[in-house]
Amino acid sequence: MSNPSTDSLDQQARDILIGNDRGGYTVPNGRVYPFQWNWDSAFVALGFATFDPDRAWREVETLFAAQWPDGFLPHIVFWKEDAGYFPGPQVWASGRTPPTSGITQPPVAASVVRQLWEGADQVAFRPRLEALFPKLLAWHRWFHRFRDPQKKGVVVAMHPWETGRDNSAEWDAPASAVDVSQVGAYQRRDTSHLDQSMRPTKLDYDRYLALVQYGRATGWNHQTITDTNPFRVADVGMTMILLRANHDLLALAQALGRRVEAEEIQTWLDLAPAAGDYLWDERLNAYGSRDLITGQACGALTSASFLAFYGRVRHPVRDRAMLAHAERIAGRVGRMVPSLDPDDPRFEPMRYWRGPVWAVVNYLVGTGLADAGQADWAEKIRRDTGELIATTGFHEAYDPLTSAPSGGDDFSWTAAIWLHWARR
Ligand code: DGY
Repeated sequence: MSNPSTDSLDQQARDILIGNDRGGYTVPNGRVYPFQWNWDSAFVALGFATFDPDRAWREVETLFAAQWPDGFLPHIVFWKEDAGYFPGPQVWASGRTPPTSGITQPPVAASVVRQLWEGADQVAFRPRLEALFPKLLAWHRWFHRFRDPQKKGVVVAMHPWETGRDNSAEWDAPASAVDVSQVGAYQRRDTSHLDQSMRPTKLDYDRYLALVQYGRATGWNHQTITDTNPFRVADVGMTMILLRANHDLLALAQALGRRVEAEEIQTWLDLAPAAGDYLWDERLNAYGSRDLITGQACGALTSASFLAFYGRVRHPVRDRAMLAHAERIAGRVGRMVPSLDPDDPRFEPMRYWRGPVWAVVNYLVGTGLADAGQADWAEKIRRDTGELIATTGFHEAYDPLTSAPSGGDDFSWTAAIWLHWARR
């Protein structure tokens, strides 16, 4: 007999997804994030796939309906007006229909579509894969063209929001070069929904806004941004996620018999060892992000550092060092994986990406560790994620020391990760 509490959690998770469904797309949380977010939607599709496959595909299709002609896929799509969020479409001024932001987000979509495809009735869903494949490929080409200008095999983030890990300690040093003197007055909305101790600081926000203003002043010209943006950081998280997504896109190309495209994707995968070398931080003895402008390592060990396994960047010595870090960190927290090393003086267990545990990152880290033959670690991380959700609810994130909730509740991607992976 199935565990009744798991059944009721399953029902709650489905209710959250259905409740946050705005018709073809799902908001991460109705108050704090009332639009379609790029990587949130991809994870949400994995949740819908467990009970409504058609709706799962539609989530991704709706996201790609907002793709720009050059392949860029925005991080927010403003399908409907909502005054509860800042910065809204007027601030971004992308000039697109539908209105969108001007930056992107971690490219998990191809990995999600591969899972949708492999779990699908392949006769019925083949036309939908045929339609999505060129859009996924165009987005990956965009990354390789505009976000890896030095052909290091990395993804260069042009804004902390692109990484999805907004206020990670990794961005402190590179973002300090951003001029905030002309930002002007603005009204944040996040701190009217949530306690400000769980959110980025005013200085972080000034930098976020200054970078939006910079991109907008270029007319969101991707080449100009690539060449001149004041924040250009090779992000270990996005890099590993794109590497993994390229593996998955290659599998889709093969499933569709696209030989020429498969060869192109393979050339991107061939860059993986170079990416691993560039992102290895000798001082930290760990993977981490690196400022492309100064060449300096960002000097923070975060949950994204563990995504090297997910990106299939294999290196026995470095892999052992990462597992030793996991062992040390697991001895310091109640639940894995904190978003910042608790031994880092900047660790704050309740502040957004400076300590709290995020279910989606746990899912990616756990998946990578399982692939790398680390079944015990993968299972521990999956169990910790399930326990956090079962004991605390479907929150945005969790304090790794106390399991207390951090950020918004009824969170779509947490519900999706429960249904797809973390449920007992
Ligand atoms: C926010 O507004 O906090 C988002 O993370 C930006 O994507």
